[in-house]
Amino acid sequence: RKPMTLHRLREMHAAGEPIAMLTGYDASFARLLDDAGVDCILVGDSLGMVLQGEASTVPVTLEQMAYHVRCVARGNRSAWVIGDLPFGSYQASPAQAVASAVTLMQAGAQMVKLEGGGWTTETVRALTQRGIPVCAHLGLTPQSVHALGGYRIQGRGDEAAATLKQHARELAEAGAAMLVLELLPATLGAEITRSLPIPVIGIGAGRDCSGQVLVLHDMLGVGSGRLPRFVRNFMEGEASVAGAVRRYVADVKARRFPDDALHGYQ
Ligand code: KIV
Ligand code: NA
Repeated sequence: RKPMTLHRLREMHAAGEPIAMLTGYDASFARLLDDAGVDCILVGDSLGMVLQGEASTVPVTLEQMAYHVRCVARGNRSAWVIGDLPFGSYQASPAQAVASAVTLMQAGAQMVKLEGGGWTTETVRALTQRGIPVCAHLGLTPQSVHALGGYRIQGRGDEAAATLKQHARELAEAGAAMLVLELLPATLGAEITRSLPIPVIGIGAGRDCSGQVLVLHDMLGVGSGRLPRFVRNFMEGEASVAGAVRRYVADVKARRFPDDALHGYQ
């Protein structure tokens, strides 16, 4: 496989060719995901929950993220590697965000992701101007779980939808090269995706995004907690982890996953 590039990801979005993303946190899984045809590996701060057993992503530190980015970068060969900027590593100022992003890029990330709209526009511009590709993240932004009052659907109602659309547009104009949308009505996910020149990756945001992402442990059925509606256990009917990941990639590419009737929100 040829190494994935930002240019190619943008082409895939323009051509309506779905992008398959999963989270990954270590070298062995990075190699497996890459070999199974995953386009992008997100080293998500969800590792606070699925690796560390924390109740949210809030306690995750930049040092921990850099460690896992480094592990993934060592195992990966051709997937596009995105590192999450954790809570507290970019909120103080654009300068703080640049310094934190440098840490993740030097650990092997090719792009950094940050949560939120409005106030993040200036930060995205600062990072982009300095040669650091940025993925924005709107909708349910887990680092703000305590402000949002739980893991609940976002963007319902005309006013909330209009704000999200405006934030998405501003972030793309500021140079964001990708956008993750989490937990939104499927129609809003589709509308934002259509309106932007950059790939939009959905998680609980409907089938018509440019691509999909799930937390690795969730889609492998690892863990005992109640899973959100948007997750499917790809291990069901599969004999191996690699088989489950290949099925995920095939189902995303064929737009068989997600099925909005089963996994979507209105
Ligand atoms: O941390 C993470 O895994 C994420 C995805 C759920 C988008 O941010
Ligand atoms: Na995250």
